[in-house]
Amino acid sequence: TKSAIQATPVKTPALPDAQTVTSVQHWTDRLFSFRVSRPQSLRFRSGEFVMIGLMGDPDPKTGKQKPLLRAYSIASPAWDEELEFYSIKVQDGPLTSRLQHIQPGDQIILRPKPVGTLVHDALLPGKRIWFFATGTGFAPFASLLREPETYEKYDEVVITHTCREVAELEYGRKLIEELKQDELMIELIGAENLAKIRYYPTTTREESPKMGRITELLKDGSVFRDLGIETMNPETDRAMVCGSLGFNMDLKEVLESFGLREGANSDPKEYVVEKAFVG
Ligand code: A2P
Repeated sequence: TKSAIQATPVKTPALPDAQTVTSVQHWTDRLFSFRVSRPQSLRFRSGEFVMIGLMGDPDPKTGKQKPLLRAYSIASPAWDEELEFYSIKVQDGPLTSRLQHIQPGDQIILRPKPVGTLVHDALLPGKRIWFFATGTGFAPFASLLREPETYEKYDEVVITHTCREVAELEYGRKLIEELKQDELMIELIGAENLAKIRYYPTTTREESPKMGRITELLKDGSVFRDLGIETMNPETDRAMVCGSLGFNMDLKEVLESFGLREGANSDPKEYVVEKAFVG
């Protein structure tokens, strides 16, 4: 009846593609990670990114709100029930100035269209895989390090992470330490496979056991000496790169000097590159 229809409470319009925040962790005053519910239909390959964000402020003229979205690498592996993200906080950043305040139970927008080049399909078979990250560029590798395929495809997994300060390494350091002891991870990947991980953290602006830009440490051979690896060889070595534009460009040059060539989903070769989300 008419009255019954009128009695139906007016629903506040739900966000398009809304997902619910399940946990938030702050690592430094500039870095945080969070987990959200995963859309049932979302399939992705470990290493890919999606667009996420919040509803923007109403347009002063029309009052209409538009979603404010940015590309974020999914930091959780493809098999995980939830989705994890690792983000910078920029005080005047349109999105992250607000996103940094999310709490469990809040909603974010997540467009369920994963894409990206940091995927196993974009590389030719090899023996050793190198993951090169700076800053929040660690995120896609947080996914790939928890992906069984990484260990099925390679005998050795080297992850380098360069940050300005020691505290900025903590998300990655803790993730690697914990995944080696995690019962589910051991069951899924195998302790002997997890032992393939070689973690190589460096800082550039604060004292730490290993200092310097990874580009320089590759060029002067320190990385190879420290890890007991002879060199990088296009026959056996594969690489994935994720950092700032400048970092990606400089590291590409180093990789090309070892004879590695850039690949893509449609044309797999020896290395792939993607820009980390920055603001
Ligand atoms: P540096 O402190 O020498 O600039 P950022 O926060 O600027 O993205 O930098 C994150 C880390 O990546 C820093 O340790 C920084 O070193 C390093 N880095 C930035 N640009 C490059 C580059 N072009 N080549 C190698 N390392 C870089």
